[in-house]
Amino acid sequence: MMQKLMTCAESVKARIDFRPTVGLVLGSGLGNYAERIQTVQTIEYSEIQGFPTSTVKGHKGRFVFGYVGNIPVVIMQGRVHYYEGYAMSDVVLPTRLMGLLGIHSLILTNAAGGINPNFHPGDLMMITDQIACGVPSPLIGPNLEALGTRFPDMSEIYSRRLQAVVRSAAQNCGIPLQEGVYVQLTGPNYETPAEVRMCRGWGGDAVGMSTACEAMAARHMGLEVCGISCITNLAAGLSDRQLDHKEVQQTADRTAAAFEKLITQLILTM
Ligand code: HPA
Repeated sequence: MMQKLMTCAESVKARIDFRPTVGLVLGSGLGNYAERIQTVQTIEYSEIQGFPTSTVKGHKGRFVFGYVGNIPVVIMQGRVHYYEGYAMSDVVLPTRLMGLLGIHSLILTNAAGGINPNFHPGDLMMITDQIACGVPSPLIGPNLEALGTRFPDMSEIYSRRLQAVVRSAAQNCGIPLQEGVYVQLTGPNYETPAEVRMCRGWGGDAVGMSTACEAMAARHMGLEVCGISCITNLAAGLSDRQLDHKEVQQTADRTAAAFEKLITQLILTM
């Protein structure tokens, strides 16, 4: 795995002489942010040897390198999901690659179903903690000693410092911000109402199919992590409606302006 990761990193470094300090992963419907920044270069995932490529509609598959203000960033426009059939180690390969490119902080975003009864579609939720025991850990297998320790601490997986920055950024932008625990399940099916009740019982506030594994891989290698979910719908059983990916994307699109403003303010102040 380390060999594969180094090959990918070398192939990216050979194409671009740009050293990002912040990484940003854009979730469903949130991908347009990459078009708003001052772009220096883009690299398609398909151009990187051995790189897992994403297949989900609404997800592009490329790295966008550029600046937000004077902060050099790398944006993942489209991520790799476990439900696509990749090994968990491949799912987090792009995250680790951004770490090897030199980022020290990682912002993860996603679309998620709201489990907390106080949440509404269109809310933004800062992730304060996560429950990832519904998916295999990306750290299973021989430990990548060059990245981190065998048994990494996860007691502050989402940086308290960055949580404070996100709160202030939201306040400065006048954007209401929910906070809560993100639960990752495998997907690709949406949950049953019973599974949603289970997630609530576990202590979850939102449920989705990404992010937690990336946060774990990032934390393993010592990156500072923060996460923001766009609550695109009430999770199954909390409303009479059936769940549908199109509706998820539409709500994410509707929320995009506030989300983009928040992300920009966050990057400028982190
Ligand atoms: N469940 C899982 N993933 C999701 C949901 C959901 O309700 N909405 C958006 N992504």
